[in-house]
Amino acid sequence: MSSTAPDPRPDLDPTAVDRAPRETGADTAPAEGAAPLQRGVFVAFEGGDGAGKSTQVRLLADRLTDAGHAVLTTREPGGTPVGERLRDLVLEHGDAVVDARTEALIFAAARAAHVEQVIRPTLAAGRTVITDRFVDSSIAYQGAGRGLGTDDVAGINAWATGGLQPDVTVLLDVDPAAGRDRRAGRAPEDRMESEPDAFHTVIRQTFLHRAAADPDRYLVLDATAPVTAIAEHVADAVLRLVAGPLPVLPSADEGTVEVTVTGRDAELVDLPEPGDGLGDQPGTESGDAPAAGRDRESGPVAADR
Ligand code: TYD
Repeated sequence: MSSTAPDPRPDLDPTAVDRAPRETGADTAPAEGAAPLQRGVFVAFEGGDGAGKSTQVRLLADRLTDAGHAVLTTREPGGTPVGERLRDLVLEHGDAVVDARTEALIFAAARAAHVEQVIRPTLAAGRTVITDRFVDSSIAYQGAGRGLGTDDVAGINAWATGGLQPDVTVLLDVDPAAGRDRRAGRAPEDRMESEPDAFHTVIRQTFLHRAAADPDRYLVLDATAPVTAIAEHVADAVLRLVAGPLPVLPSADEGTVEVTVTGRDAELVDLPEPGDGLGDQPGTESGDAPAAGRDRESGPVAADR
């Protein structure tokens, strides 16, 4: 990964934090025999409100930067000027009535801008992108929570993103009541946060279901575990990805020809073969790898070792 790659669109993102690598770079060399990194690693954090995603995004960015990687942190909805305006529109308790389909399309529109203007060019420049929420949030909140259907919402988002998927999605699993407690005293609740616990329970189940169905791509952690333990698991997993070869990104228009809404996830990208997953990156010892979604049948992995 080059530390001198030009910032693809430096002025487009008021919230994104672009970090140059620190000078160490000690443990970031590709594993012996690994192909040189062609693009940056794409990491998404997902979870219910109050799961502590923003803290973990920051800690991961610190860790990667310390290890010599160029990292961009960003968030959804948002990440571009148009995305931030759409964020206000869809999350504020204003006079405007935002029905469920409109809501889903606003999130998808903000995401399309985010992918096109920020995420793809940054990955193409060889930088790691860490986003606070991505497509899974729409599938969980709008598809399941609002009852629009997870397949349909996956379909419009596959089109909006051209089929781009994170290399790893870190799911911070939190019980809705615990999430509400953790949010107490912070900023006033937005439109989503003020929904009842039943709504948030459906969302939680949807996240867990998706993670269980695709264990190579998800790392599920108990959000109530100690912050440092969670951060350690996440950093281990992502540093392994950074050190290994990555599949080629789908082209930007891939979503226009391949979307199917009949399957559960409208997957557009060839997933790694079983055994090529996160836990099997070069340098991973199978015994202690924090494999994505491990123990998924019995719920999230506790972050305590
Ligand atoms: P988040 O940024 O996590 O909230 P905050 O910064 O206030 O902690 O997310 C904002 C809200 O938007 C959150 O309740 C989830 C919701 N959301 C959706 O409903 N669909 C989406 O596609 C996304 C990205 C977020």
